Amino acid sequence: MIIVIDFGSQFNQLIARRVRENNVYCQVEPADISIEKIREMNPVGIILSGGPSSVYEENSPTIDPQIFKLGVPVLGICYGMHFMVHALGGTIEGADKREYGFAELVIKDKAPLFKDMDDKFQCWMSHGDSAKKLPEGFVITASTDNTEIAAIANHDKKFYGLQLHPEVEHSVNGALMIRHFLFDVCGCEQNWTMKSFSDGAIAQIKDAVGDKKVIMGLSGGVDSSVAATLIHKAVGKNLHCIFVDNGLLRHREKEQLEESLTANLDMNIKFVDAREKFLTALAGVTDPEQKRKIIGKIFIDVFDAEAKKIEGAEFLGQGTLYPDIIESKSAFGGPTSIIKSHHNVGGLPEEMNLKLIEPLQLLFKDEVRKLGLELGINEDLIWRQPFPGPGLAIRIMGDITEERLEILRRADTILLEEIREAGLYRKLWQSFVVLLPVKSVGVMGDKRTFANCVAIRAVTSNDAMTADWAKLPHDLLGKISNRIINEVDKINRVVFDITSKPPGTIEWE
Ligand code: XMP
Repeated sequence: MIIVIDFGSQFNQLIARRVRENNVYCQVEPADISIEKIREMNPVGIILSGGPSSVYEENSPTIDPQIFKLGVPVLGICYGMHFMVHALGGTIEGADKREYGFAELVIKDKAPLFKDMDDKFQCWMSHGDSAKKLPEGFVITASTDNTEIAAIANHDKKFYGLQLHPEVEHSVNGALMIRHFLFDVCGCEQNWTMKSFSDGAIAQIKDAVGDKKVIMGLSGGVDSSVAATLIHKAVGKNLHCIFVDNGLLRHREKEQLEESLTANLDMNIKFVDAREKFLTALAGVTDPEQKRKIIGKIFIDVFDAEAKKIEGAEFLGQGTLYPDIIESKSAFGGPTSIIKSHHNVGGLPEEMNLKLIEPLQLLFKDEVRKLGLELGINEDLIWRQPFPGPGLAIRIMGDITEERLEILRRADTILLEEIREAGLYRKLWQSFVVLLPVKSVGVMGDKRTFANCVAIRAVTSNDAMTADWAKLPHDLLGKISNRIINEVDKINRVVFDITSKPPGTIEWE
């Protein structure tokens, strides 16, 4: 395994993904990890990430310099390189010129990181500090116009430093540099596959759970479905899944989940019909935050009541992913991700005293998808666009009624059919219809109409933190609009949302 030390870089997860893409297992650990723990983990290489600090600043993150005595290769990236230089007796200074963005990297010494590369190519830089004097035993292996010491090596000790960011896509050959470090320097084996992960995880779950019962909430999304499938492979009928139908789902959503998970798995799923409870509590509520609060509270009540019926359960399964774990472990991250990942079951009564089983906590989203396919879950479920917990409630502006839900469902189904037909479903982060609280005048078949207006929302994004409105082709928009107005009674106008995030949000509420 490779250990990635988190010095606070916004890219540390990207480094980990670049490593894993090569079927090499790696873990991101906070900089204050002890040397004993590192020894125990027995890595074949260590990567020190970048970070926003300067090594001379007070409270800048440090790792025990004993790592340089383990006899393990180390690759320092940006701040990670500064830390290595500083810790081993060299000097770092505020650079005369900040370097941000593209620079041409001129290679002086190719082996091992720059093997088989051109003499010059573009790389991506983002730093204020630079190395000024190298520690003993180091040589300069590449430079840019602004930064003489852009890459360094101590070949004897197998210590390498890159001022550039090899993990970002804009760095030409960046992924190859990481591959050279993994295979030529560290001698890694490519044994991290979803098949090996799944075999190991199933064995671990069996071991931990024995013949006890596990409870798990299903949302219909990818993470909980994959986690449940994995747990089911380990404990079979001792897994008790609960799916709460809150009445705010899209057309055939519950049925699709049922077909996907019960068809060849024979999974124990209790579908709880709580539609009336939710819709009664939401009647007349128009404030988005109040809607969320009501939905969250009722969900917990319903889930608790069902969970209590499963006697002797000792475990609670969850689909928590690695990014949440990294963030919550990081010396620089906050506890927010813990709250987020647990929010759906945050209210389980303490007296139930359930132990958590989180089998996906080492995986990134793309790995979860691969695992799901490996486990035989159907592609439609694996590639599902995210859908918010409060469901259609936050896509109906104003009052939520059964009638308005049905209008929205029918329009949304048409939109999704057309997006899929156009081959765009997987390219879009989300695509959906919003029912507006406005009526407008129209004319249909010589008759005046006065009916609802809906908005089409479609965005591209990598993580939902920022998003761009999708430039859907005009003829596709025309077709969607025509079909919605012709096929959905009570809608006579369709508009297209061209707001990015920020300043907008993805959802309208
Ligand atoms: P916004 O609208 O904040 O959405 O740009 C970002 C992402 O989060 C989803 N979302 C939610 N998911 N409960 C959830 O489980 C919520 O209350 C909620 N609000 C927004 C949204 O669909 C998008 O993917």
